[in-house]
Amino acid sequence: MSPLRSSAPWDVRRLPRAEGKNFLVTGGNAGIGYFVAEQLAGTGATVVIASRAPAKAEAAQVSIRTRVPGAHVRHIRLDLADLPSLKASADALGLERLDAVVCNAGVLLDQPPRRETRDGNELMFATNHLGHFALISWLAPLLTATPASRVVTTGSFTAKSESLDLDDLQSTRDYRPKRTYARSKLAQMLFGFELDRRLRAAGSATLSVVTHPGGALDSLTPPRPPVHIRTGGERLRGLPAGLLLQSKEAAAWPAVRAVLDPSVRGGQLWGPRVFGIRGLPVLEPVQGHLADTVLAAHLWAATAGLTGLDPSSNLRS
Ligand SMILES: NC(=O)c1ccc[n+]([C@@H]2O[C@H](COP(=O)([O-])OP(=O)(O)OC[C@H]3O[C@@H](n4cnc5c(N)ncnc54)[C@H](OP(=O)(O)O)[C@@H]3O)[C@@H](O)[C@H]2O)c1
Repeated sequence: MSPLRSSAPWDVRRLPRAEGKNFLVTGGNAGIGYFVAEQLAGTGATVVIASRAPAKAEAAQVSIRTRVPGAHVRHIRLDLADLPSLKASADALGLERLDAVVCNAGVLLDQPPRRETRDGNELMFATNHLGHFALISWLAPLLTATPASRVVTTGSFTAKSESLDLDDLQSTRDYRPKRTYARSKLAQMLFGFELDRRLRAAGSATLSVVTHPGGALDSLTPPRPPVHIRTGGERLRGLPAGLLLQSKEAAAWPAVRAVLDPSVRGGQLWGPRVFGIRGLPVLEPVQGHLADTVLAAHLWAATAGLTGLDPSSNLRS
């Protein structure tokens, strides 16, 4: 890896160095988040994996250290579905600066029944949207005190064709798992764009960037034992899907670029180049309901009501 001039094309395999910086990756123990953590660790930065099970986080750290000798990587406990626990997770960071948070962790249920967290919130909306909103609220003072820090929110291409029902954010009236998932990702993306507007209004130098990973399958993903093991049979069965979709290693590229590329600006959307499904990370237009500022403001107010928190109160450095 070598320092990158801002005029050079982005090379996902030659990332700029980032020694001295601290990056937090939610769900960095598995899937796309693991590869975000691995790629960021390769820059010399300290990477904090925020995840639920300590054993899985330990496995991820071992794998990263095997591939990135001398990697600075550690773990904090984080359960996004447990709102009252998130302040303790933020406090456990114990860092003097936080250069980026990658809000990657997520849950997708593809079967009924509708499930709720202990707080009584629908599980996908709570984990993907409410949990990250609350986490960023607690981290906002540290983020805004760190020059040019970034919040990177992971959306989904499924959110682009979905609409939000502000009167039924928790899918209590009509629960359809895939739609509820897509709506939770749309809520996250609206949050990411609204957060950037509020950061700009507050005169903050922190950026909020939205990314999406395209479509990624474990069967297309290179092994990282013991985090991810892929049999020869799984690899072969995955080959046809490889024509359309991609590996979780490649799916990490938009978020990694959003963290590191000096040319990235707040309020942008980054995703894979080929039909927004696979390929190198490119800038995408923010349009349709993703650009609906009234909807985003209503969602923000509703989310603040549900979490009892509001990142806006802490946006000025
Ligand atoms: N894969 C795709 O094609 C695709 C497409 C669009 C968007 N996305 C988004 O990309 C992100 C990563 O997806 P993926 O495919 O890598 O999923 P994955 O392999 O299922 O990994 C999900 C990660 O989220 C963590 N997580 C789940 N619930 C959590 C909670 N309550 N608290 C903390 N962490 C929690 C998981 O931790 P545990 O190991 O503890 O369960 C795991 O680390 C998600 O936000 C997803 O919505 C993925």
